[in-house]
Amino acid sequence: MPFPLRKNIAAIAGYTPGEQPQVGEFIKLNTNENPYPPSPRVLSALRRAVNPSLRLYPAPLSDGLRNLAANVYGGGADNVLAGNGSDELLAILARCLVGKGDRVVYPVPTYTLYDTLIAIQEGEKVAVEFPPDFTLPEQIFSESGNLTIVANPNSPSGTLVPLEQIERLARAVSGVLVVDEAYIDFAEGDNVSAIQLIPRHSNLVVLRSFSKAFSLAGMRVGLAFAPEEIIQAMIKIKDSYNLNSLSLVSATAALNDLPWMLRNVKRVQRTRKRLTQSLKKLGFTVYPSQANFILVRRHGENLRGIYEELKRRKILVRYFDLPALRDTLRITVGTPQETDAFVRELKVIVESM
Ligand SMILES: Cc1ncc(COP(=O)(O)O)c(C=O)c1O
Repeated sequence: MPFPLRKNIAAIAGYTPGEQPQVGEFIKLNTNENPYPPSPRVLSALRRAVNPSLRLYPAPLSDGLRNLAANVYGGGADNVLAGNGSDELLAILARCLVGKGDRVVYPVPTYTLYDTLIAIQEGEKVAVEFPPDFTLPEQIFSESGNLTIVANPNSPSGTLVPLEQIERLARAVSGVLVVDEAYIDFAEGDNVSAIQLIPRHSNLVVLRSFSKAFSLAGMRVGLAFAPEEIIQAMIKIKDSYNLNSLSLVSATAALNDLPWMLRNVKRVQRTRKRLTQSLKKLGFTVYPSQANFILVRRHGENLRGIYEELKRRKILVRYFDLPALRDTLRITVGTPQETDAFVRELKVIVESM
């Protein structure tokens, strides 16, 4: 090694994001983007914001967005921190809470970025297997760690843990509980988010993303909701200007147009239901999804061939080359037209196997 790379960094592969093809026309059902565009208010606010004031730095604490988020979701502005995607907020939390040898507990399979962030910190990953139905494993309530993470709804399963279980876990863990709610807007029911639990739990952090329900994956904005002490610690770590001016403008405009987001969520929920039925008819085991994607399984069969054949037909879905997931595919819920095209092609592939 010609330069003094830390041993733990040399040892990891790094997180592999889903494919983002830059050429060719694909029906893209692999990285859980929203098939509908962002609110027209976002686009016009952005056009207005492209002006000479871009020479100035943005507000270091994203004050306007913080205040608005507190109004929309409850709590005070001091309980909110904006990040460059929820990925940045996860990285900040790992840097705040995880040092060499510190334990980080989470149920698996889940979002594999958690593995990478812990490895960078030289923390100890404590992975607790989900049972086959993806309910929260009982063992997780008795594990100790600086940090416990639950993606809710979980990826790649799309399954939702009820709020009572999340609250029970917040009481049980010895350190901080992070609930990663990147997909929660797609869940049914009005009372599913853990944000409402924060006033009762000094160790609870809830993360939200603008990438999914708000159709803003390209702008990279996420929010952390937490007790003020935790937010203060996170502020010490973050880059001074972690959100650029245009991201701030777009997230603010998106939060000011909730009806647009809610309408698109309803469309995705309707298509999710139809897609679930079609996938069951084709003989797959389908996990009950409360997210904007669906995990399907054919027990014991490697589904790489189906993924590749779909790709050849210009349809991208997510195949995870991991022992626990090779017999699954994760499919993002697209528009009705995209979904119909996907089901049509999948039927042909499955019937020819
Ligand atoms: C569970 C989960 N959390 C967080 C993220 C990251 O979202 P963001 O785009 O806000 O960084 C993703 C992205 O796919 C995700 O699946």
